[in-house]
Amino acid sequence: MSNTAKLELDGKVYELPVVTGTEGERAIDISTLRSASGAITLDDGYSNTGSCRSAITFIDGERGILRYRGIPIEELAEKSTFVETAYLIIYGHLPTSRELQRFSGLLTQNELLHEDMKFHFEGFPTSAHPMAILSSMINGSACFYPECMEPYHAETFDEEAARLISQVRTIAAFAYRKSRGLPIIYPKPVYKYTANFLHMMFSQPYADYDLQPEVVRALDLIFLLHADHEQNCSTATVRFTASSQANLFASAAAGVCALWGPLHGGANQAVIEMLEQIRKEGDDGSKFIEAAKDKKSGRRLMGFGHRVYKNYDPRAKIIKAQCDALLNTLKINDPLLDIAIKLETAALNDPYFIERKLYPNVDFYSGIIMRAIGIPVEMFTVIFAIGRMPGWIANYLEISEDKSSRIYRPRQVYVGANKSPYVPIKDRRAAE
Ligand code: SDX
Repeated sequence: MSNTAKLELDGKVYELPVVTGTEGERAIDISTLRSASGAITLDDGYSNTGSCRSAITFIDGERGILRYRGIPIEELAEKSTFVETAYLIIYGHLPTSRELQRFSGLLTQNELLHEDMKFHFEGFPTSAHPMAILSSMINGSACFYPECMEPYHAETFDEEAARLISQVRTIAAFAYRKSRGLPIIYPKPVYKYTANFLHMMFSQPYADYDLQPEVVRALDLIFLLHADHEQNCSTATVRFTASSQANLFASAAAGVCALWGPLHGGANQAVIEMLEQIRKEGDDGSKFIEAAKDKKSGRRLMGFGHRVYKNYDPRAKIIKAQCDALLNTLKINDPLLDIAIKLETAALNDPYFIERKLYPNVDFYSGIIMRAIGIPVEMFTVIFAIGRMPGWIANYLEISEDKSSRIYRPRQVYVGANKSPYVPIKDRRAAE
């Protein structure tokens, strides 16, 4: 295979280097294109554009492969935990027991918010969406730690990263409790990461929540499966923000905002709302499937399709199995699961979805698990954000440590008005 590509423009041939990744993917390096030819490339939605070299996560969308630092997601799901996987993603290797102990200790030391943060929670209406609270409180919390307001510093990174991973959980739980008019429950050092989150969400001042191992395991797996996913919309946003040397907390808060959209992290909430709608309409799913195929309906089969996976999302397979196991253990018979299974079966046999290679993605079944645990639908995307935090932090670290990295500043093709004179207001006419 050649290591250069030729591009011809106006009779001139430009030779461009070809970069090959460790898994054989190839990219044409166009970094000299504009200076050599005066032209730029245009790629709506960046479907064909690599923004960086990264060693964190590998996805093969055609074959449905996902690996964190080379380790297949199926192995991590079976053998690892969210905290251990977070360490792997951030630091590039599975931790020794000593490294894991130190990392867990940092998470415990940083699980409390500054006490004055409580006043910020008072300021939100109970109807405030928890993603709005999360994005603002991440920056709010950083204000109490001067080092967190600074650009990347290697010597303070470990503590800042642990603080962010630990506190995102506390902020989320506090937001939930405030939205329900419940007293906030402080974290308990005796509990591990996910158990502590469930404790802060569902315990009462007079009685701790009953931490069923299957429930803790199911939520820990959801966090693990969401921990990173290459240059998705929110991670790319974190890298954009970090490229200006904004601090870690500001970069993560930007990621939360990008994740919120229903086409991205908001899809898990949209899936449940879709299933509820189908149930309310007494539809067995077939009417909805027809609507989802009709562009004019404005409806999409939420939880289906993916920019990269043109095969089954490997995470969806794992979550579906976990969903069946948990509902079985808890003896829950959720009608929404029946509708989801009917939708999946119908879509996987429908030419519209087959031709477009639309399969269930990570969001299709995750909401059913969260419902079974008792997490309200408006918190689903917050759960996604807690899980994705290690991936955002790892990408922040990767770009911050790369001495050759430059501020992200894409070009554009201008399609606006050509040069026009200023018109005094007395001579202006309303546009027809
Ligand atoms: C996540 O990038 C990541 O890695 C994201 C993520 C992560 O871990 O970070 O994996 C998490 O965001 C998962 C995706 C969650 N979103 C949804 O489930 C929302 C529903 N899905 C879609 O809106 C859509 O599939 C996207 C947004 C996920 C991907 O959109 P693309 O790649 O821009 O594809 P497209 O919109 O260009 O669709 C291609 C065709 C179109 O039809 P045609 O114009 O060719 O006729 O497929 C159709 C689309 O109309 N299509 C769908 C559909 N998804 C795509 N039709 C019906 N239902 C759908 N869900």
